[in-house]
Amino acid sequence: MKNHKSQKWHIDDPMTVIHTYASTSERTDGLNWIKELTDEWKNPFLVVDSEVGRLWSHQLQYLFAASSGLYLMDATEELKNTFTLDQIWGSMAGAGVRRDTPCIVIGGGLTCDIGAMAASTYLRGLKLMLVPTTLLSMVDACLGGKTGVNLSGVKNQVGTFHPAEVIVISPGYLDTLPGREFRNGMAEALKTALIGDPEIKTIIQEVSEAEHSSDKILDMIERCLKVKSDIVSEDLLENGSRMFLNLGHTVGHVLESASEFRLSHGEAVGLGMIAEAAIAVRFGGNSDLPDEIKRMLEFCGLPTEIEGIPSSEVLTRLLQHDKKTRRSGRIWALPFDWGDCRLTQMTTDQEEEILPQVLTSLRA
Ligand SMILES: NC(=O)c1ccc[n+]([C@@H]2O[C@H](COP(=O)([O-])OP(=O)(O)OC[C@H]3O[C@@H](n4cnc5c(N)ncnc54)[C@H](O)[C@@H]3O)[C@@H](O)[C@H]2O)c1
Repeated sequence: MKNHKSQKWHIDDPMTVIHTYASTSERTDGLNWIKELTDEWKNPFLVVDSEVGRLWSHQLQYLFAASSGLYLMDATEELKNTFTLDQIWGSMAGAGVRRDTPCIVIGGGLTCDIGAMAASTYLRGLKLMLVPTTLLSMVDACLGGKTGVNLSGVKNQVGTFHPAEVIVISPGYLDTLPGREFRNGMAEALKTALIGDPEIKTIIQEVSEAEHSSDKILDMIERCLKVKSDIVSEDLLENGSRMFLNLGHTVGHVLESASEFRLSHGEAVGLGMIAEAAIAVRFGGNSDLPDEIKRMLEFCGLPTEIEGIPSSEVLTRLLQHDKKTRRSGRIWALPFDWGDCRLTQMTTDQEEEILPQVLTSLRA
């Protein structure tokens, strides 16, 4: 096997073991974890992204044959809902899943979210393994235990906390990932550099979309997961410091919704990071940071400008869905510098004054 390296990486919280598999240019390498499954993961119930199931059918066939049941999930936000959840539960029941049947979810963040929610609720909880297959799910979504589905068009309105016992990171899956999806993941990695590890910014400059199976990318993924694990181990239920992980997302979600999802999640979060760094400048943050973020986004092939800016009314309406809204105001995770994120409460008056100015500066 070419350049194959497997290692186990233990983190303190939340009892998750991460297995990583490096440098795979041969597509078979990406599936070595299957051969290493221990008895406790035998005959699992599988929830698999249907696109991954199709593209990787040859490598997954052994696992499919050895499973107790399989649900193939079309990864679209429209299907990330309680109806699909109900179908997965039905499929689990049809397959005779018991309390001791393990569940393995293979796919991007969307499939991980809904598959993990099915695992967390069926028979009040099955042991869970996540195998993320997009860059975004490798650097972020797989860790931290958040599961969820959308309700009436509002993203992740219903969910649970159910950390995976095992996460398998195999960057080989990125061989088949479309470029736009890859760039979504790079935006989240850049976010992590702002939250807690400036070194990630340097590594990002050494990672290229064309050569994404290098050791560099694994280094980047591991560093991102380390930052996230440190945060969630302190605050699994998001009562405080876990809000750091929302950096770029308050403005990002608004822009994503206002564009009617023409902007991808990563593109919107990238723009959100520029805007939120500009807000931070008002509170004493590094005044060079918005331009530095812009340059990094350009390097990653992500947009730094938008055509249409949402009106104040649209802005107010969309911000109401933000989960960090409290009675006394909204809490913002603002980037003051690389590796320096601060939770800052803004009043409605402050938001109404600052936000339109900041968003105008993003206009193409
Ligand atoms: N739980 C968390 O902490 C957390 C964090 C961030 C995001 N999320 C959630 O993650 C979701 C977004 O996840 P995502 O960006 O990973 O995208 P995704 O899961 O929606 O997948 C994007 C597309 O890539 C395809 N795909 C997946 N793996 C592939 C591969 N290896 N090769 C080719 N195609 C592949 C999918 O079929 C889909 O079409 C959102 O629903 C978001 O709410 C959750």
